[in-house]
Amino acid sequence: MVRVGVDEKLSEELLVGFPPGAEIVRIPRKPSGVVDVDFWILPFARRDAEEGFSHLRGVKVVQSMMAGVDWIAPWLPKDVVLCDGRGIHDISASEWVLTAILASLKRFPLYRDMQGRQEWRGQAAETAGFLNEGGVQVGQYRVLGDDLAVKTVLIVGYGSIGAAIEARLAAFGVTVLRVARSARSNPAVFAVGELDRLLPEADVVVAIVPLTAETRGLFGAKQLGLMKHGALLVNAARGPVVETDALVEALEQHRLRAALDVTDPEPLPAGHPLWSAPNCLITPHIGGSTPEFIYRAFRFGADQVRRFLAGEPLENVVSDAGY
Ligand SMILES: NC(=O)c1ccc[n+]([C@@H]2O[C@H](COP(=O)([O-])OP(=O)(O)OC[C@H]3O[C@@H](n4cnc5c(N)ncnc54)[C@H](OP(=O)(O)O)[C@@H]3O)[C@@H](O)[C@H]2O)c1
Repeated sequence: MVRVGVDEKLSEELLVGFPPGAEIVRIPRKPSGVVDVDFWILPFARRDAEEGFSHLRGVKVVQSMMAGVDWIAPWLPKDVVLCDGRGIHDISASEWVLTAILASLKRFPLYRDMQGRQEWRGQAAETAGFLNEGGVQVGQYRVLGDDLAVKTVLIVGYGSIGAAIEARLAAFGVTVLRVARSARSNPAVFAVGELDRLLPEADVVVAIVPLTAETRGLFGAKQLGLMKHGALLVNAARGPVVETDALVEALEQHRLRAALDVTDPEPLPAGHPLWSAPNCLITPHIGGSTPEFIYRAFRFGADQVRRFLAGEPLENVVSDAGY
């Protein structure tokens, strides 16, 4: 028997796949005493998670339902096994990235703003864009959006979600460049040390790394300066992976465009310059959260509990204390 701690308000429907040896323990959001739990399925990105953990006794495994565990790892005791949600966000996060790329290239935010003002005008009439720059179309027609086809997309963080992004890009006839911590082949992945060399080649740069000491500020003024004029930076990773001040400056100088699901700080406060920076699409960290996602998450959680009961190795172990 394993005591599996879950949030007190979790729907019964999500618990049907758990093995018979799992005793479900519903943990109150404000526990008054100590709760005995072996395997804790952490509530989603709750700010009071650390406080909640302090009321638990006997925890051997903490299972996060989020791919990034940067908000848990710093306070979790090292003798507790931490597992992340690698894989469960692949669909939702990669679909967000594709949507963000296409919406930005096709200028949907601009046209949606114009719709709000009941204005029928093309991108070429905008002074804050990049498309009134001239080219062979001048005198022929007005450019109203960009194609994704034949562009070069650099995926920085070629992990589970990075590969899912590439799979979805396949239909668009793009060249994909991949970066991870270390180089590998089949497919060719460059080491992060090559990032500065690759940035000038890309029309679209997607950040999808975990937030670690190494990735904090990975995109600073130097890296943003190396990107092509008018290139699109997509951040679906974590806000601090990009230096906000440097990004605001690049946007305000009309050097880059951006699509951000994550920002630093988060939530982005009213009046922050990023809100009004030109050519910047912002969504409030919603990339991974869809109704379908929670079923995938708890199917994975149930499988992890089954492995734990069977004495099999757990998947997605981030820090393994052994148990
Ligand atoms: N916006 C959202 O709602 C949302 C949703 C889900 C996830 N995320 C973010 O996306 C991140 C990635 O998720 P995932 O499931 O794809 O994780 P993953 O499978 O662990 O992949 C992470 C990738 O990042 C690479 N990486 C790690 N440190 C790096 C560094 N210093 N420089 C360059 N590359 C580095 C890894 O390289 P190696 O392969 O060489 O180790 C790996 O390829 C999460 O940690 C989370 O922060 C955001």
